[in-house]
Amino acid sequence: MKTKPQTSAVPDKKTESLLNAVARRESVHIQAFTDFPSALISLVEEGISSFDHGQFLPKLRVFHDFGERTDFLSRLILSPKRQAEPVPEWVNRILGIKEFCLAINGMSAWNDRLHDMVFDIFVEPFVGRFGVPLKPFDVYLFCGTYPLTPFGVHSDSEDSILLHLGPNTKEAFVWPGDIYDRIVRGTERRVNLFDVDKISHEAMHIKLRPGDVLYIPKRVHHVMANGKFSYTLGFIPNPVSSAQVLPLLAREAAEGLDEADCSFLPGLNGSSWHPMLETVAQIFSLDELRHAAARLLARSRSNGYLAPAPAHLRTCGGEGIYARTLRYPLEYLRDGNWLRLFVRGRELKLPALDDLRAAFDMFRTGERLSLSGFVSMTSRSLEAAAAIAILRRLVELGGIEESCIDFA
Ligand SMILES: [Fe+2]
Repeated sequence: MKTKPQTSAVPDKKTESLLNAVARRESVHIQAFTDFPSALISLVEEGISSFDHGQFLPKLRVFHDFGERTDFLSRLILSPKRQAEPVPEWVNRILGIKEFCLAINGMSAWNDRLHDMVFDIFVEPFVGRFGVPLKPFDVYLFCGTYPLTPFGVHSDSEDSILLHLGPNTKEAFVWPGDIYDRIVRGTERRVNLFDVDKISHEAMHIKLRPGDVLYIPKRVHHVMANGKFSYTLGFIPNPVSSAQVLPLLAREAAEGLDEADCSFLPGLNGSSWHPMLETVAQIFSLDELRHAAARLLARSRSNGYLAPAPAHLRTCGGEGIYARTLRYPLEYLRDGNWLRLFVRGRELKLPALDDLRAAFDMFRTGERLSLSGFVSMTSRSLEAAAAIAILRRLVELGGIEESCIDFA
């Protein structure tokens, strides 16, 4: 089983510092981590404008006056952002408010170029350093104008890697564990604090400029002040212990898993987790668990290890020459009489027909096929209409695309 990313570029110095901080679980602020925050803002804005094009709702939360507003959410979904409309103008046009915070999970799924850039900036170096994620990474977006994070001073159960895009600066206050434990005691520890002035003198006070990265390890308290409108992308990577991997595999074996929690698989052949696997195998068979692991990895790899949903479907032209995408491999697994095909993080269950598999193999090895070529390759076992439907679905999900190569 392949456990390395598609490409293996050597991380630059800033990326190396980030990876080292994550490995040590120490907060770090890295200035000018990326040179193109404004290009990322454009892609984020394009992604938000595309919310109305698809069949899938974005994982969007709207906060106003320190509370989540589900009533605002439906109004924003029903009145999408116009193409060139800035987010603050859209929110003000629909909701009539100037102070707000939008939180969007799965943001990278809404724009292919954003997805690719996040892959290059974070996914590839993280997978190269820490291994293959059993569950996809999530890329979320926080944007808005708000005096403080809507839920006050808090800690998260996952690491936060924040890439601040701007256009304005943002202030972060971070209290390393022992300091927060010392200054906040009793019942106050059980609620999120909003009186930052009272404890800010003990915090790391960081000014995030566009392009900066801030890493906050899980369970470290922090809060953000965002007095002027800005965008911040968050990336969640968390290596898991073998003990955490096994329940995921068991759940997958039981067909019940559907939400990402962004965990790394430390290594399928690692001896440390093998005895535990044997224990879980008393409930699920070893074969079942191996198959579950292979399925999770193939699905995740097919989307560049990023959370795939929600996403808009691409449109499919008619006759043309089709090829795999360069970055996202088509994966499949044989499962009895079925072929499980993994396309950009989604799973298609198809009959295990030899000629269908041969056609997929052609795509997987970089061959190009026309629509009529695909129909003819599968004609022994599939009617033309069924073959066309499969090819169209592959294109819609982004697993193959019309090739730009001129064959003339
Ligand atoms: Fe947080």
